[in-house]
Amino acid sequence: MAALRTLQFLALIAGVSSSQFSDCSYFGLLNHLNLTSSNSLLEIMRPVKNWTDPTLVKVDMVLYGILGLDEKSQTVTSHIWITKYWMNDFLTWNSSDFCGIDELFLPRSMLWIPDIIIKQDASDSGTIADDPWVTLHPSGLMVTFARQRLTFTCNFNLYKFPFDVQQCNITFLSMGADVRSLVLGSARNDSTLLKLSEQFMITQGEWNLIEIKIVCTNMTSVERNQSILVYMVTLERRPFLYVINFIIPMVYLLVLDLGAFFLSESGGDKLSFKVTLLLSISVLLLILKDILPSTEVCLPLIASLCVSVFTLVWLSVLETMLVNFLTHLDDVCGKNTESSTDADRVIKQEANLHKADEEYGHVKPEEAPRRDADLLRTILDEVKSAQQKTESQKKQKMKPGFCRKLAKIVDILFFLLYFLAVLMLMTYICMAWVEF
Ligand SMILES: *[C@@H]1O[C@H](CO)[C@@H](O)[C@H](O)[C@H]1NC(C)=O
Ligand SMILES: *[C@@H]1O[C@H](CO)[C@@H](O)[C@H](O)[C@H]1NC(C)=O
Ligand SMILES: *[C@@H]1O[C@H](CO)[C@@H](O)[C@H](O)[C@H]1NC(C)=O
Repeated sequence: MAALRTLQFLALIAGVSSSQFSDCSYFGLLNHLNLTSSNSLLEIMRPVKNWTDPTLVKVDMVLYGILGLDEKSQTVTSHIWITKYWMNDFLTWNSSDFCGIDELFLPRSMLWIPDIIIKQDASDSGTIADDPWVTLHPSGLMVTFARQRLTFTCNFNLYKFPFDVQQCNITFLSMGADVRSLVLGSARNDSTLLKLSEQFMITQGEWNLIEIKIVCTNMTSVERNQSILVYMVTLERRPFLYVINFIIPMVYLLVLDLGAFFLSESGGDKLSFKVTLLLSISVLLLILKDILPSTEVCLPLIASLCVSVFTLVWLSVLETMLVNFLTHLDDVCGKNTESSTDADRVIKQEANLHKADEEYGHVKPEEAPRRDADLLRTILDEVKSAQQKTESQKKQKMKPGFCRKLAKIVDILFFLLYFLAVLMLMTYICMAWVEF
C-alpha cells in the first residue's frame, strides 16, 4: 500500500513537472499562438482585428557611419541601422503562463512585414541586410532590424564650399499602403537618436554630424495620401584639408605675385616668374574642377576666388609686358645717341693725339723743356675734357627718357590698384564665408 502511495506521489510529481516543462518550452507557446503549422493568414494580411484601424509602424534609424559624399553625383553614402516596430493583434500571450517567456524569435517569412522604403535611396540592391528573424513580445509588439549601406541623393548647396553645411532628407514611406492602413512614426525622439548616432558612429570621414530632426507628415501624391517619416540630417564639412591644400597656396601665390613688383625690371626674369605663377594657379583650378560639380545655379565662392586670382595674376603679367615694352623702347632711343657721342669722342681723341705727335716730332733740342711742358698741358686739357664728357654722358644716362618715366608711373599706379583689388577681394571672400 505504502509502495502504491509512493508510486502515485511520484507520478504526481512527474505529471506536475512534465506539465511545467511543456509550459516552459517554446513549443507550448507556439501551440498557444497556433503557429505550429504554417499559418498563411499571418503572412499575407495586415494583423489587425478591425480593418479600419491603421497599423502604426515606428521606424528608428541610427547612423553608424558617413562613408562619403560625392559632390559630382550629389549623393551621400552612409551606413545605417533601421529598427521597425509594429503591433500584431493576434500574437499575444501572458508571459506568466509560459514561465515568463517574454521574447520569441520567428522567421520573417512566417509573418507580415510592413514594406517601408527610403525615397532617396540610390544604392545597389544587395546593400541591404535584413534581420532574418522577427522578435515577438507578449503584448504583440513585433521588432525587426535591417542594416544597410545607404546611398541617398541629396541636393547640395556648395556655395560656401569648403565651409558648407549640408542638409539632407531621408524619407521613409510605404511602397503601397496609404495613410488609412499604415501610419509611420518614430519610436525615439530626435535628441536620443542623435546621441545614439554620435555614440555608435565609427567613421565620419570629413563630415561632422550636427543634427537629426524627425518630421512625420502626410504626403499627397498623385492618387494616394501617404504617411511619411522624414529624417532631416545636418552635416558639416571639416574644411581643414581644403584650407591647407587649396586656399592657403592660392593666397600665397597671390602674395608672391604682389612681391614680384619689387623685382628689378632687367631682363625677362620678372615676366617668366609671373607666368610660372599663372601656371601654378591653373593647376589649382584643375584640382577644383575635379571636386566641384558644374551646377550653374550659383557659382561657389571658392570658384569665384580662383577666377579672381587668376584674372589678377593675368593682368599683372600683361602689365609687366607693357612695362618691359616701354623700357625697351627707351633703351633703343638712348643707345642710338650714346653710340654717336662715343664715336665722336674717339675720332676727336685720335685727331688730338696725331696733332701732339706731329708737334713733338718737330721739336728743336734747346726748346725741349718748354715744349714738354706745353705737351703736358695739352694732355691735361685732353684728360679734363674727356672727364667732362664722360660726366655729361653719365648725367644723360641717369636721366631716364620719357618712356621709362611712363613705365615707372604705370608700374606704381598698377601696384597700388592691384594691392587695393587684392585687399577688397580678400575682405569680400572672408565676409561671405563667415556670414550665415
Ligand atoms: C488557435 O486556434 C484555436 C482553434 O483553432 C482557437 O480557439 C484559438 O483562439 C487560437 N489561438 C490564438 C492565439 O489565436
Ligand atoms: C526635407 O523635408 C522637410 C519636411 O518634409 C521639407 O520641409 C524640406 O524642404 C526638405 N528638404 C529638402 C532639402 O528636401
Ligand atoms: C494624416 O492623415 C490622416 C488621415 O487623413 C490624419 O488622421 C492625420 O492627422 C494626418 N497627419 C498629419 C500629420 O497631418
